[in-house]
Amino acid sequence: MEITVILSQENETLPRAELLARLGTLNIKYEILNEYPGIVELEVDATKDEVSELGAHLAYTHEILYTIKKTTPENLQTAIESIDWTKYVKDSFKVRVKRMGNGDVDKDGIERNIGGYIKKESQMPVSLDNAVHTIKLVYTDPEVVTNEYKETSITSYNKVIITELIIEQNKRHFFDNKPHKRPYFHPGSMSPKLALCMVNLARVHENDTLLDPFCGTGGILIEAGELNTKLIGSDIEKQMYEGTKLNLAAEGFSDFKIMWEDVRDLKLDKKVDAVAMDPPYGISTTLGGDDTKQLYHEALNAISSYLKDDGYICMASPHYIDLNEVIEGTPLKIKEQHSIRMHKSLTRIITVLTKK
Ligand SMILES: C[S@@+](CC[C@H](N)C(=O)[O-])C[C@H]1O[C@@H](n2cnc3c(N)ncnc32)[C@H](O)[C@@H]1O
Repeated sequence: MEITVILSQENETLPRAELLARLGTLNIKYEILNEYPGIVELEVDATKDEVSELGAHLAYTHEILYTIKKTTPENLQTAIESIDWTKYVKDSFKVRVKRMGNGDVDKDGIERNIGGYIKKESQMPVSLDNAVHTIKLVYTDPEVVTNEYKETSITSYNKVIITELIIEQNKRHFFDNKPHKRPYFHPGSMSPKLALCMVNLARVHENDTLLDPFCGTGGILIEAGELNTKLIGSDIEKQMYEGTKLNLAAEGFSDFKIMWEDVRDLKLDKKVDAVAMDPPYGISTTLGGDDTKQLYHEALNAISSYLKDDGYICMASPHYIDLNEVIEGTPLKIKEQHSIRMHKSLTRIITVLTKK
């Protein structure tokens, strides 16, 4: 089936990379048909339930929509009239216009007109609060102009994708799961969104074992636990080790093992399927981050001996540490890298590593 995915635009590369990683993990064959800002159109070899499962655990995907038909703004009415709406609308429904960017679209007028037409054709009631079906008209493929101050604006759209919503992101999850709401909090806690994205980039499958050897307050482990994985964490600080155990128990997880250990002395009985980690960034930027570099190198060497041959490591690090240098002499290679600008003097690099 054909789907339209609406991505968060808060980062240029992570949302797309996370989506493709998760498609791979769930073993869904796909072909990318078109891409526009914040949109990926795909053909996927999957059922609606499998697509729902895909959308249920993505940090940077807002919505996944079933693509009914593609048209232009001029031909929208004709395209709507060519669709057999009794096939798609079998219960209450609503029509929503989604424009990608700030182009001018008569949202209310279009929703009213198209809604009226579908109501007549399907004989089903409109419900704005509790609709069973949400028909989304996605305005994309923008014409962009840049003015003399290099500001861009959208003058028109070339494409409207007529879709039905399959799954939208549960924003409450990230809100309810904010680190300061957990029993143990520390300011270094990672945002649940980035933590979930890293877990997805580590290609973790249900029932896999994921290791976070710098677990801190357990932010990464909590997101991995939501994917029904077995969790192993460790931290050099006793209070972090105690705090992670408290936080995981408060989430209702029981399948975890947390250790109080320096990553370089870590001993595991079995190899793990995936690693996601956010090691300390150090403060030695002026020294070129040498101590931190050394710690990363030793940590990656220690961890890779416990990683299965087809396993992935996803790690966060500061921009001033060159991971190409760090991995010299380890059995690892860099698969992909993404950057997140945190503030003027810190860009976080998210790196995915595999064994050579
Ligand atoms: C940036 S924090 C991790 C934050 C974590 N992702 C969270 O959400 O809370 C880095 C953690 O690494 C731990 N750490 C530092 N050096 C370590 C080492 N050599 N071995 C294991 N843990 C270490 C620190 O105690 C700290 O909790």
